Amino acid sequence: YLRPETKEVNGIPMTKVISDIWDQIWSFQAKPDDLVIATYPKAGTTWTQEIRNITYKQHPFIEWEMPPPLKSGLDLAKEMPSPRTLKTHLPVQLLPPSFWKENCKIIYMARNAKDVLVSYYHFSRMTKTMPEPGTWEEYIESFKTGKVLWGSWYDHVKGWWDQKDQHRILYLFYEDMKEDPKREIRKILKFLEKEVTEEVLDKIVYHTSFQVMKHNPMANYTTLPSSIMDHSISPFMRKGIPGDWKNHFTVAQSEAFDKDYREKMAGSTLTFRTEI
Ligand code: A3P
Repeated sequence: YLRPETKEVNGIPMTKVISDIWDQIWSFQAKPDDLVIATYPKAGTTWTQEIRNITYKQHPFIEWEMPPPLKSGLDLAKEMPSPRTLKTHLPVQLLPPSFWKENCKIIYMARNAKDVLVSYYHFSRMTKTMPEPGTWEEYIESFKTGKVLWGSWYDHVKGWWDQKDQHRILYLFYEDMKEDPKREIRKILKFLEKEVTEEVLDKIVYHTSFQVMKHNPMANYTTLPSSIMDHSISPFMRKGIPGDWKNHFTVAQSEAFDKDYREKMAGSTLTFRTEI
């Protein structure tokens, strides 16, 4: 499979296929009862989606184009019965405006930069619809400078953070989810105005745990052809923990990363934990 060309949309690197149909994505028609799961890639999109709806498996990415015979995100979204759950990695300024107009609920899941970088690096190695990540050293630079698909992590997490109080946005953290999934799932259910018994809540916690999802073919992406995702290179459900960055960054790389991080995140009230 040929790795995709990239092409910017308003300064954000996207695949060329997505760029080419950008007008259609931008004019996407939201419905008031749509729920959006918004994330920077590798922040826990699949996990959040599993919590949202254990039984309905096709939650399309609004901006995702897959090679035929797989359907585009836009087509899947149009076919999906309401209430829909739609995923997106778009930075906040590129969310199609009808989601704001319809005042849709949005769950934003954020994860610390270093673990995202590691996860994105391995994901880019195993997913053939992503550009080649290059070497580990090269990838650190691409990530820092936002030269990866969906752009800068720093701008993404800050952009959504700055909008969260103006809209119906529940802003959550991967590290909190790991620390106490039951507590965080309760927050999600409250936000969705869903009441469940303690027994059902325990079941959701169990079925959305890393170990169970890792072995669930409906959640671990192993049903995709290996020409798209090659799990022998790196599994999609890779480690599922905060702090794996320590096994990848050298001390020097980590220090340089932190210095640059402080500059990029200066002035923001948004903080992350890099381990729990
Ligand atoms: P790792 O590569 O660090 O293991 P996304 O769904 O946004 O693409 O994110 C994928 C990342 O979330 C992967 O991280 C994956 O293992 C992790 N993940 C998926 N389900 C999880 C779960 N139930 N618990 C913890 N981590 C999970």
